[in-house]
Amino acid sequence: MRLTGITRARRVRAAARASLVLGMFVLVPCRARAQDPAPLTVASPDAKNVVSIGTQHGQLFYGVERRGMKVILPSRLGFAFRGARALSDSLRITGSTRATYDSTFTLPWGEVSRVRDQHNELRVSVEEMVAPGRKFTVVVRAFDDGIAFCYEVAESAAFGDYEMSDELTEFTIADDARAWWISASKPRPDRYEDLFAASPVSNLDTVHTPLTLELQNGIKAVIHEAHLVDYAGMTLAGKFESRTLHVSLSPWADGVKVRGHAPLITPWRTLQLADRVEDLAPSVLGLKLNPPSRIANTAWIAPMKYDGIWWGMHLNTFTWGEGPKHGATTANTKRYIDFAAANGLKGVLVEGWNLGWNGDWMGTHGQFSFTQPYPDYDIQAVTQYAKQKGVTIIGHNETAMGIANYERQLDSAFALYQRLGIKSIKSGYVNDKTQEGHSHTGQYMVRHYRRVVETAAKYGIMVDVHEPIHDTGERRTWPNMMSREGARGQEYNAWGGEGGNPPEHETILFFTRLLSGPMDFTPGIFDLLVKRPEGVARKPEDSRPRTTLAKQLALYVVLYSPVQMAADLIENYEGQPAFQFIRDVAVDWDTTRVISGRIGDYVAVARKAKGKDEWFVGAITDEEARTVSVPLSFLGAGSYVAEVYADGKGASWRDNPTAIAISQKPVTRSTTLQVVMAAGGGQAIRIRRVK
Ligand code: NOJ
Repeated sequence: MRLTGITRARRVRAAARASLVLGMFVLVPCRARAQDPAPLTVASPDAKNVVSIGTQHGQLFYGVERRGMKVILPSRLGFAFRGARALSDSLRITGSTRATYDSTFTLPWGEVSRVRDQHNELRVSVEEMVAPGRKFTVVVRAFDDGIAFCYEVAESAAFGDYEMSDELTEFTIADDARAWWISASKPRPDRYEDLFAASPVSNLDTVHTPLTLELQNGIKAVIHEAHLVDYAGMTLAGKFESRTLHVSLSPWADGVKVRGHAPLITPWRTLQLADRVEDLAPSVLGLKLNPPSRIANTAWIAPMKYDGIWWGMHLNTFTWGEGPKHGATTANTKRYIDFAAANGLKGVLVEGWNLGWNGDWMGTHGQFSFTQPYPDYDIQAVTQYAKQKGVTIIGHNETAMGIANYERQLDSAFALYQRLGIKSIKSGYVNDKTQEGHSHTGQYMVRHYRRVVETAAKYGIMVDVHEPIHDTGERRTWPNMMSREGARGQEYNAWGGEGGNPPEHETILFFTRLLSGPMDFTPGIFDLLVKRPEGVARKPEDSRPRTTLAKQLALYVVLYSPVQMAADLIENYEGQPAFQFIRDVAVDWDTTRVISGRIGDYVAVARKAKGKDEWFVGAITDEEARTVSVPLSFLGAGSYVAEVYADGKGASWRDNPTAIAISQKPVTRSTTLQVVMAAGGGQAIRIRRVK
């Protein structure tokens, strides 16, 4: 075949890259034995990302490069088992196969509506050279936006029932990259509800994923996992001073990490790769690594905005349990339904409606009933009223990690909700371990979370999980898995101490937690100084949202979720012109563009509303005021009007958070908006076509 100039140049570059990758293995201190063959490599379709895999002295290693620059130095692969030899030494590669894939799938809802899955795959067969001679396959996929690999161990005489004590996968970061991380060992290890720290990799503690890294060579990398089905959730531990992170799996109560019977197929270990932080989002690598939807008809699955009986409990003005301040009364819920119906919100969350909240519900691992309401909550009347108003109740299922109690009731509860027309639940898993001592993110809980989503699908119910396990792309297979918490959300601004989440918080969330999937952050607090009861003075350390009002609005665009709450008490929205933005903002998108950003400083995002010629822009900043240019070149030809919700004169999160300036201006695709943000501020813009 005659090579064109471009193809030839591309091949020469790819060959050069491959030889660099092969050279990576020379970095391993000991010399390879004669029988260690040359490493195998697989490159992404654009040839930028290259994975190599090979053996050295019977140990299996892989490495990753991007544009010829090292990202992951040779890093070990393998497993350790209870009661069996580790699968980590005396290994040899016995063969390999290759394939290329290119397909496009649509999502029923999302940050984008279509995803192209184009990748090259390398399957490497590995065999143990000593008894019992177990065999396994490492499957490697190279995409333009990252790489992924997983292990497959088939059933054989040598491999049947197993108890894994560790997965030995390592990630040796090529340089002392800057990492944005939350600890997986303290202070709330199992709920991901810590503030992010930024430090060189060599200073990390044990960390959660997604772990976002900026290498000194400029490459951005995000370590995470995909397609976690019947396995333990992953954190990263390791010898951080040598930049070697290894997979650490969350255990069962007896310390075993993963138990089962072959075949064993692990989740994908993923490394998203980009040259610019702006190219990390929207992140779809995990979706490409999950199977297509198991729900044939997804028409009933609908993104929505909702209000709810919630913030009052966090402020202590309502209670979950019975008493004079009980929030979930029939009358109160009807008020929230009326408000939702009048403002185009499709859901009303009701917390504290069911028996079990009185007393120490956390300490007892919640002996909740998921079907029996408190006497002052007429579930029939409320759901009927909601139905007439075109609104669904979002049933709250706090479990307090009393999993057996919840699972016993799952079918009867979901059947009841279906009968009543409750189309959505919000579940909760407050507490670090199950009653039996299983980890919050171990295999026991992975199975549980999956069981809930599958059972919910059977009854036509959408799910929003608080205190979840991290998202590994399951919404592709189960699109009723709408959103989850899994980070420090708005609730910390009610009671979290330290004054509330710092102004930089959401500018980090966007480039870290949100890369794994949607987050139910619950934006939209308007009473930003959080009124104290009569006669009680506010202290500086009292928690409150440390944002301006315009930033609260911008969060609806920046922090993606298909279910977005108008989180404040509804009376705080009365007479507020800024509430119009919450009425208008979309929750489902055709496409998403990150205009510009810097992790921990600011980010500006534009999203196109699904099926409409309408765009929304959200920009947020940390504690520094700044101006960001937003060219509107993403618009089509013609005239549009921009409805701008900007920080008002003198606005700042600290002294004047509610000052807001609402204006309209004509724009076209050649307009560049100068988005001016106050300290702790932001800007929210709706852009709609006029001609
Ligand atoms: C923690 C959740 O994040 C919050 O939204 C909920 O109100 C409480 N748990 C009670 O379930």
